[in-house]
Amino acid sequence: MANLFVNINDLSNQDLLAMIHQALLFKHGDLIPAAEKQVVANIFFENSTRTASSFQMAEIKLGFPRIVIDPSRSSAAKGESLSDTLKTLKAIGVGIVVIRHSLRGWYEPFYESAGKTLPKLVNAGDGNGQHPSQSLLDLMTISEHFGRFAGLKIRIIGDIYHSRVARSNAEILKRLGAEVTFSGPRDWRDASLTQYGQYVDLDDGLGQQDVVMLLRVQHERLSADENSTFTPIAYHAQFGLTQARYDCLKNDAIIMHPAPVNRGVEIDSDLVEAPKSRIFQQMANGVFARMAILNYLNSPLTTRELV
Ligand code: CP
Repeated sequence: MANLFVNINDLSNQDLLAMIHQALLFKHGDLIPAAEKQVVANIFFENSTRTASSFQMAEIKLGFPRIVIDPSRSSAAKGESLSDTLKTLKAIGVGIVVIRHSLRGWYEPFYESAGKTLPKLVNAGDGNGQHPSQSLLDLMTISEHFGRFAGLKIRIIGDIYHSRVARSNAEILKRLGAEVTFSGPRDWRDASLTQYGQYVDLDDGLGQQDVVMLLRVQHERLSADENSTFTPIAYHAQFGLTQARYDCLKNDAIIMHPAPVNRGVEIDSDLVEAPKSRIFQQMANGVFARMAILNYLNSPLTTRELV
């Protein structure tokens, strides 16, 4: 049984496709969780609305006992190390921890050396490293619309460098056979991602894309200089999804954004809920994707026959 869900790219294609399938079964009420239910602890050192609340919603729907730890009121605020916090949670009976943290790869030293003495871990986002549960819900959303990944043209647009979503999604989408390209400000490019797709001008081939995946401008990770010179109107004109760009998209194209959305910056506010937008569907799917993740770490699944 798996102990970690920290990087979507660690999963085999078989496990990944099974988890997407399970998430869709959960969505349609065709799957019930196994009887064994481990206690889950949720700890968010960074702000979150979607990930934190949809993990809790997934835990409620699965019937998992759960606790929520506020880092500002925990012993982490007294200087306790993350490793000792995790060992403490294991000692008091927590089976799975869901953690968001601002430090990229924070879990690597602990889980390499002491994985067996720690609870199972779900990475709910680590700095600009990985966001595997977002990737799973994104893959689920693409699969729901297209039923495949191979051959899809997917453009990832915006603040690539500071984005854990771009880093998580680019590699797995390429592995699944999608044709990934990137667009965005030159200063926010990440050369390490060019193994998965090339950078192109935003308007270059936009009308041939199947998926337009917008990224939030991550002001919390920009330097003071970058924030002071950032101009929302100029960014929107150059890199945002304007009505004119929307109008040139294929009939069957979909628009995605992990949210929270900076309305009028990455996307025209009127387009957030436009027919091609899947932004709120992504959020809804997040609950079922996270149910599949928790089940993956908890125990095998059982399928209920539909009557
Ligand atoms: N997409 C996402 O991770 O949103 P939250 O920061 O609200 O969890």
